[in-house]
Amino acid sequence: MSVAARLEEIAGLGRDPSSGGYRRLAWTDPDLALREWFAGEAASLGLDVETDRNGNMWAWWGDAATDGAVITGSHLDSVPDGGNFDGPLGVASAFEAVEELQRRGVQPGRPLAVACFTDEEGGRFGVACIGSRLSSGALAPDRALALRDADGVTFAEALSRAGRDPRSLGAEPDRLSRIGAFVELHVEQGRGLIDLDRAVAVGTAIYPHGRWRVDFSGQPNHAGTTRMADRRDPMVAFARLVLAAQAQADALDTPTRAARATVGKVACTPNAVNAVPAHVTGWLDARAEDEGTLDALLETITGEAAIPGISVTVTEESRTPAQHFDVTLSQHIAGLLPGAPLLATGAGHDAGVLAEAGIPAAMLFVRNPTGISHSPEELAEDADCEAGGRALADVLADLLTAERLPR
Ligand code: GLV
Ligand code: MN
Ligand code: MN
Repeated sequence: MSVAARLEEIAGLGRDPSSGGYRRLAWTDPDLALREWFAGEAASLGLDVETDRNGNMWAWWGDAATDGAVITGSHLDSVPDGGNFDGPLGVASAFEAVEELQRRGVQPGRPLAVACFTDEEGGRFGVACIGSRLSSGALAPDRALALRDADGVTFAEALSRAGRDPRSLGAEPDRLSRIGAFVELHVEQGRGLIDLDRAVAVGTAIYPHGRWRVDFSGQPNHAGTTRMADRRDPMVAFARLVLAAQAQADALDTPTRAARATVGKVACTPNAVNAVPAHVTGWLDARAEDEGTLDALLETITGEAAIPGISVTVTEESRTPAQHFDVTLSQHIAGLLPGAPLLATGAGHDAGVLAEAGIPAAMLFVRNPTGISHSPEELAEDADCEAGGRALADVLADLLTAERLPR
């Protein structure tokens, strides 16, 4: 097969015809269909599939109970109206690499699994990397179970509806301690590889990042009779938040010190055209190359949103420190891929969560010619997908047959 052909198999799953984007939110029907596809791909390669207590899937080549396993893979869920590459490219490339290793007659000296982590995007319940964070212990089951989606459905209810037992959630220290190396291939989500004119890069780190909910409350009132001077309009404060996010991050985002801030989600009540709103909630996503810049960014943005008469509450929904991939493993991988540049990223990944938990983790990025991601315009050319699949196969062949894993 080919990586592109595998992606084509799922190209119809969860696609919204009106936007052309994918709505593969965790534990919805498209997610369940993708899980079936994962099981089918695994079966066709003779891999044994297991779903762990947190809903992450593992397709094993070799004995899952043996220490020092090499794990590859990514996720299959998407943001609302995302592309077909963010996540699936890593899973499809992993299956393609396994097929390539089998074709080459590689005899693995240790087990290998293709992993698919649950709800990496946090597109439904607001917290990213739920599956890997539950397994590493970074997210407590009680907190996860109480999360709600936009329709008020809790994570616990969503699990039950999908036929899973919500009480099964929990950390998996034994499983994670058996991982000798995790290598996640992912579509690049910016312009790094376009600028460098290369197809594949090795990841170095993920910038510190987080999500904050900012609640504004004012005085709901009539749009026609309330004098402008008498208004307490939370929408105005919200607008200041958006403008401050743009201006502050823009001022700090330089080629040597990245800073990003986005307000991509908003809710307004009562949401009526002829009423000054009662409440507005905006979600701020902020990221920066270092913790100090992120702190400064957050403080200035939320400070600038404050106006008299409007109450402002800032709630941290998640915050992830800088995550550094394993230097020895990453340098070893770079040595196997001559000419592959090293890239840090502002996007979050399960590989970062595992790295934070002390697991040797590394990433490969595949060029995205549009430089656009979390959008239907996200892309990877067929030739680059195959280059990525071959690079992953070369890396896995080395790790599976090395006397000892790089430490
Ligand atoms: C995940 O892709 C994220 O960085 O939000
Ligand atoms: Mn992703
Ligand atoms: Mn993503």
